Formats: sequence, structure tokens, C-alpha cells
Amino acid sequence: MEAIEVNRLSKYYGKLKAVDDISFSIKKGEICGILGPNGSGKTTTIKCICNLIIPNSGEIKVFGEDNKKSTEYISALFEGTRNLYWKLTPRENLRYFAGIRGFGGKKVERHIDELLDRFNLSDKKDTMVNNLSRGMQQKVAIAMTLVCDTEIILLDEPTLGLDVQSHIDIKEALMDIVSSMNKTILLSTHDMNLVQDICKDVVILNKGKIVAQDSVEALMDMFRSMTYEIVLTESLSRDDEKYLSNLGYDFYFVNNGTKIEVDISEVNEIYAIIDSLKGKSIFIKEIKQKDNNFERIFLNITNGEVE
Ligand SMILES: Nc1ncnc2c1ncn2[C@@H]1O[C@H](COP(=O)(O)OP(=O)(O)OP(=O)(O)O)[C@@H](O)[C@H]1O
Ligand SMILES: [Mg+2]
Repeated sequence: MEAIEVNRLSKYYGKLKAVDDISFSIKKGEICGILGPNGSGKTTTIKCICNLIIPNSGEIKVFGEDNKKSTEYISALFEGTRNLYWKLTPRENLRYFAGIRGFGGKKVERHIDELLDRFNLSDKKDTMVNNLSRGMQQKVAIAMTLVCDTEIILLDEPTLGLDVQSHIDIKEALMDIVSSMNKTILLSTHDMNLVQDICKDVVILNKGKIVAQDSVEALMDMFRSMTYEIVLTESLSRDDEKYLSNLGYDFYFVNNGTKIEVDISEVNEIYAIIDSLKGKSIFIKEIKQKDNNFERIFLNITNGEVE
């Protein structure tokens, strides 16, 4: 079942197409990443889904219903640090956010204790949020999206601006949510490792348009088969480099010409390249598919237009 369906969504600011005719969907219980360079429309999309921004056109359905009628299924964490009341403690914040959505009483109090415990915040539950570290504040903000137990969680840049340790803590907290609570999550981020580690599917935006949309695994596979690394027994001469450059492949000469990297579109091409090297008596020490990571894939798809 689709938890979220975004259908031909567009949002303009004057002439600027912040979101330009995008469609995607997320199945119940799955976690989808939304990626893109700065200004590509991630936050606008998330705000449209939770009905904070009214789009110019398109429709958004949440569990099959128009999103204007289904906000009770959604909790959201927005980018930046304004998700919490700084003068309240974590416990008071969670109680307040549950309260404004109509939840209260002993059951909620128990749930708040459980959440704070889950995120290792029990000993800080009565400390003013203002006096917590940035990472702890972010964990409280994530706990806040869980306190009403909604089916859908929207997270806009949950790891932005955190130090290494807080980053690990937040990643673990998110992995915990993914593995032990059956939530549907849409997560925007610039953090490719986070996407690689926790997202099943990914939507990549550039200038308001979708430029790729697939499972993380499929994108990794697709690009894995395309980049080869050829280590040579000795450096290439200038003439050899020139000769290879004229063969029509995308060669990158690295390590002072002792290594060639090449992006190919069909596996057979690698045999033709090996033959060409052999013909020139250029000897190969090692040949392997280059380890890929999501960052490289992202740069490939968005043509490196990342700020
Ligand atoms: N309220 C607004 N008024 C005018 N333009 C806006 C407004 N909000 C966003 N925009 C523009 O819409 C485009 C998309 O912005 P959005 O915030 O959705 O991008 P983003 O992908 O979340 O970027 P970032 O990675 O920087 O958070 C940008 O060009 C931005 O300047
Ligand atoms: Mg944003």
C-alpha cells in the first residue's frame, strides 16, 4: 500500500519553479531519501506533503486520501533548530507537542519516558533544551516526531550541522526507528552515507525536477558496473596517453599515469580497452571494478552541481 503518493506536484515562487512537475510514491513501512543540491526543492516538497505550502498544481495523497484531510498521519522535523521550545525541558517539549495534537494522560507520559530512554536522554529529561548539546537537541526533536505515533515521519536534514559524535548518535537513532518501529519515512539530506545506510529508495532532485528515482541498491548496481580501474606495471608515456585519449572512451589518468580509470557503458568495452593496451605493449598489473559510493553516483546524476 502506498503511504504517500505525490502526483505531478509543482510549486512556483513567481517565475521560479521550486518544484516542477514531480511524481513519486512511498510504500507503507519504507524509508525513502530525497536528495538534491541546495535549492533543488527538497524542503518545498516536504512542506507540501505536510500541507504547510499549498502547491500550484498536482495532488498529494496520504494513505489514499487528499493530504489536506490526512495530516493526522504525519509528523515532521524541519531543517534548522526551531523545532523545539528552548525554554522547556525535553519532557515538557514532548508533552506540549503531544498535547497540541490532542494526546495526554498516563499513556503519553509513559511513551515520553520510553522515547527519552531510547535516545539516551533520560538523565537530561528535566534540563532546559537551551542547555543541551546540539546533538541532544536534535535527538529531542526526532523524539518529538515519534511522540504522537503517526505512521509517517518527514525529516528535513536531520543530521545537518552536527559534530561527528552527534552525527553517529542521530544515525543510530534513525536506524533504530527504521528497524524497530514500522514507520514510513521521507528523509531529506546531503549525507550520502546516511542514504546508503538507511534508505531503501531515493528520489534525486535537481532544479525542482526529478533526475533519478530508484532503489539505492539499483543505483549502486547500475553505476558499479560502469567504472573500472586499471593499474599498470609502469607509467604511461605521453604518446600512449594521447593514443588512449583518441580511442573515444572517458579515461582518467591517475597516479602519474600508472593507473587508468574509465567509465564505460557496456561491459564488452572493457575487453576492447584491454586489447588496445595490449596492442601498445602497455602491461596491466591489476584490473577491477571501482568501489562505488553513493556520493559519486549523486555527483554523476546531478553533473556535480553541488554546492
Ligand atoms: N518562501 C520562498 N519564497 C521564494 N522562493 C523560495 C521560498 N522558499 C524556497 N524558495 C526557493 O525555491 C527553491 C527551492 O527551495 P527549497 O528550500 O525547497 O530547496 P532545498 O532543496 O530544500 O535546498 P537546501 O538543500 O538548501 O535546503 C530555491 O530556489 C529557493 O530559493
Ligand atoms: Mg532544504
